[in-house]
Amino acid sequence: MRFPTPRHYLMCPPRYFAVDYTINPWMDPSVPVDPELAMAQWAALRETYRRLGHTVDEIEPQPGLPDMVFAANSGTVIDGRVLGARFRAAQRAAEAEHFRRWFLDHGYRDITMPTRINEAEGDFVWTGRELLAGTGFRTDPEAHAEAQEVLGVPVVSLRLTDPRYYHLDTALFVLSEASDTAPAQLAYYPEAFSPGSRRVLERMFPHAVRADTPDAACLGLNGVCDGCHVVLPAEAERLADQLAELGYEPVPVDVSELRKAGGGPKCCTLEIRK
Ligand code: ARG
Repeated sequence: MRFPTPRHYLMCPPRYFAVDYTINPWMDPSVPVDPELAMAQWAALRETYRRLGHTVDEIEPQPGLPDMVFAANSGTVIDGRVLGARFRAAQRAAEAEHFRRWFLDHGYRDITMPTRINEAEGDFVWTGRELLAGTGFRTDPEAHAEAQEVLGVPVVSLRLTDPRYYHLDTALFVLSEASDTAPAQLAYYPEAFSPGSRRVLERMFPHAVRADTPDAACLGLNGVCDGCHVVLPAEAERLADQLAELGYEPVPVDVSELRKAGGGPKCCTLEIRK
């Protein structure tokens, strides 16, 4: 029996969603996107969270920022402290300020904007004990030290090596946070990481769930778990079975339109940790 804990998420409706530039291998501007379907899939994701008892806040989308739906890239919030974002791609740069404003307008007073390239929860994954920090494609390794200093939590750097898994949250997610006596329970795709980083993951999380190539290739590792329910792309069937065997409850969602920009459920979901 697994016990969910209520979460607080920030999401951005994909009103201006499009794929008109290429900043990761998933994005092909010649493939048509159905904006209504993207909105319907996103709304279904939001309703899934609400049905599971979570709080979802929404930020106003902005014209000209088609990737703003991927809210996870715009803030890392631990203990009510907000570390904002600084995007690598010029096309996304302006998103960071809209999210900074949102936090300011919603009463957050401890907000720091990074000086290094930092794509927030795209590359930062909180285990409850340490912050796993990805680099290799987006977030600057020096942003890892900056996050440790600003958030006051231990940071473990991990190197991504496959361009399809350009953010840490495309290759790894937390199922259950660490307790006083046990490390976090994770699911990840080993092949997305450098040999040294794989060894770090094996050493720290010997009981982690390892996903196979097809489950990674549908962005199955871009999951969101509340300790019990695992919201993940519907195509990740084997991973869902593995998780069900461990007592988790898979909650499949269709994110086919959003995946055309290289995103899944987690990319759309910024977690606010009080
Ligand atoms: N098109 C977006 C980009 O390449 C997708 C971001 C996905 N977000 C994430 N948290 N992995 O920046």
